[in-house]
Amino acid sequence: MKRFRRLRQNETLRNLVCETRLDPKDLIYPLFVVEGTNVKEPIDTMPGIYRYSLDRIDEELERVQASGISGILLFGVPAHKDAVGSAAYDPQGILAQAITYIKSKLPHQLVVADVCLCEYTDHGHCGLVHEHTILNDETLPLLAKMAVCCVQAGADIVAPSDMMDGDITAIRQALDAHGFYQTPIMGYSAKYASGYYSPFRDAAGSAPCFGDRRSYQMDPRNGKEGVREVENDIDMGADIVMVKPALAYLDVVKAVSEQYDVPLAVYNVSGEYAMVKAAAKAGMIDEKRIVCENLMAMKRAGAQIIITYHALEMAHWLETGE
Ligand code: PBG
Ligand code: ZN
Repeated sequence: MKRFRRLRQNETLRNLVCETRLDPKDLIYPLFVVEGTNVKEPIDTMPGIYRYSLDRIDEELERVQASGISGILLFGVPAHKDAVGSAAYDPQGILAQAITYIKSKLPHQLVVADVCLCEYTDHGHCGLVHEHTILNDETLPLLAKMAVCCVQAGADIVAPSDMMDGDITAIRQALDAHGFYQTPIMGYSAKYASGYYSPFRDAAGSAPCFGDRRSYQMDPRNGKEGVREVENDIDMGADIVMVKPALAYLDVVKAVSEQYDVPLAVYNVSGEYAMVKAAAKAGMIDEKRIVCENLMAMKRAGAQIIITYHALEMAHWLETGE
């Protein structure tokens, strides 16, 4: 008889032989910044997550610093939106200001700027719109401009989440032309048109005002196409690739991690977070166990980097030894 239980006898032995480990350094924490003063606004669908104005954000930055995670993923929520998303690439805009401020407070944390127009456009789409079509090539220069603006403000990494074809090429060329050839690009490579984003759209006020994102984000029925999207992002010069959402797409994570030798991130998105929080609040699950199990599953599937709203709590649990 094969005695599998031999190595399961006690915690120390189990820790010695475990295949997967999670570390606070694996984690990136998304952060929402809004214009205005004295704002700390709870997001109803995401318990524990707030929108902060810059004058109130220090308390959150202190928690980030103390947590030992690697960095933050920054989303700007501007006061004024227009058809071309001007605030996204305004050097005086909320995103650029937030990057500079946060970087000055947290010089040793990575500040990752999400590059996409949807938080900044009045129609809520990720690119320019003509009638009811989302334009691809016309959007690329704006994404490139936004990326340059973010890096000029101090961003360490840019992360285009727009799902326009050719975005990484356009951004890489623009960054290089401005001398930012050392700035990494983290591509949202296999980003699915998912129902799991709805709490985020409350948080960022970025729900599309007509239609949906299915003409640019991926069809959830397609796994192999996700691998091809990743391959194309690598070819275009992505330094880090991503699969998003995480839990319902671990097959894609696994396939990518087996085929490509590049750093791989997953985004444990707002809806995944909201479901755990809601079930925990209803007393249906043990939150800590579930979060650990979920994040461990993402690593086990092959992700090295996990972007998660649970980052600060998870880091705390890891530090306190469980
Ligand atoms: C913007 C963007 C979205 C998310 C990250 N960047 C929303 C969307 O595509 O509608 C989702 C993140 C989350 O749900 O936590 N393009
Ligand atoms: Zn977008």
